[in-house]
Amino acid sequence: MTSDSARIHEMNTERIAVTAASGLLGRTVLAELITLSGPENVVAVVRNPETFNSSNIAVRRGNYDDETEMATALSGVDALLMIASPIVPNVDRLAQHTRVVNAARAAGVRKIVYTSVIGGEATSEMLYRPTQQVGRATEALVKDSGMTWVIARNGLYVDLDLRHIRRAAAGDGIYRNNAGTGRCGYISVAELGVALATLMSTDQCTNETVNLTSENLTQTELVGNANDVFGSRVSYEKISIQQCLDKFHAMPDYVKRGEELITMLVGCFECIDRGLFEVSSDFEYVVGRPAKSIREQLEDVRDRHAQ
Ligand SMILES: NC(=O)c1ccc[n+]([C@@H]2O[C@H](COP(=O)([O-])OP(=O)(O)OC[C@H]3O[C@@H](n4cnc5c(N)ncnc54)[C@H](OP(=O)(O)O)[C@@H]3O)[C@@H](O)[C@H]2O)c1
Repeated sequence: MTSDSARIHEMNTERIAVTAASGLLGRTVLAELITLSGPENVVAVVRNPETFNSSNIAVRRGNYDDETEMATALSGVDALLMIASPIVPNVDRLAQHTRVVNAARAAGVRKIVYTSVIGGEATSEMLYRPTQQVGRATEALVKDSGMTWVIARNGLYVDLDLRHIRRAAAGDGIYRNNAGTGRCGYISVAELGVALATLMSTDQCTNETVNLTSENLTQTELVGNANDVFGSRVSYEKISIQQCLDKFHAMPDYVKRGEELITMLVGCFECIDRGLFEVSSDFEYVVGRPAKSIREQLEDVRDRHAQ
């Protein structure tokens, strides 16, 4: 795919809905969409409208476990951003995504954009394989849905890895995982929000699969950037897959979120170690400007938290 920053982005004046809109990514995309498309054209679909604060856009109830409710939520919607459902215990994510795709088709939605996962194919013994299979199976559903589609493969959120690094800074100053010297396409949630809002408010990349990533960094480079931005002195150390699983099993906040999530996280590091998450970026092709550098993205995170 070639980059074309000179391309003119023609805005659609369509009703755009975002499902799972109350999450970190959903709220970020909504804010960008309100600016790009106008609040009157934006619909937030959330499972608990009662607890979702939004004064200037339509908010509708839509649960990934209820196809009928979701179809009602999507009535009159032209374009849908289906944010992948989170990994929680005892939830069949592919069944959830299937319900949302069916609901969108039943509601007459014209275009669907799905936030998928980056990467080359994980082999059967790899911990990331189940997560990747849900992503790829959902991609196939979306492509076969009869709607216009875009598969937006999201890089790893640099915001989340930063949290691990900050945790190491507050501990013994060593950030440990099993990613080794592999490179990974990272991106901040803020930059993802810009790219996804652009895909929703224009007819960019119709029926294409794009990687929404920025720089491919090693863990040492990522930690170095975080040290520069936050004034810390963390170093990076590779540990084995089992040691990394043990590390998460010793953290109550991760244990509480379930084994599937821990397996997926360590699986991501395994993919990085094997070079599967080093991907070419389509960010400039989508947005019309290069992605900010990871350093700039981390500075944005720091400045937002300082406010
Ligand atoms: N690329 C990466 O590094 C990365 C990192 C983290 C996550 N992800 C993926 O990206 C997605 C979005 O990330 P995020 O940071 O926005 O996650 P998040 O902040 O955890 O938000 C998850 C969202 O999913 C909603 N949700 C959960 N179950 C639902 C259901 N049955 N029906 C409708 N909505 C439901 C939640 O609603 P409530 O507010 O009601 O709980 C919330 O809005 C995640 O779900 C995950 O698949 C990717």
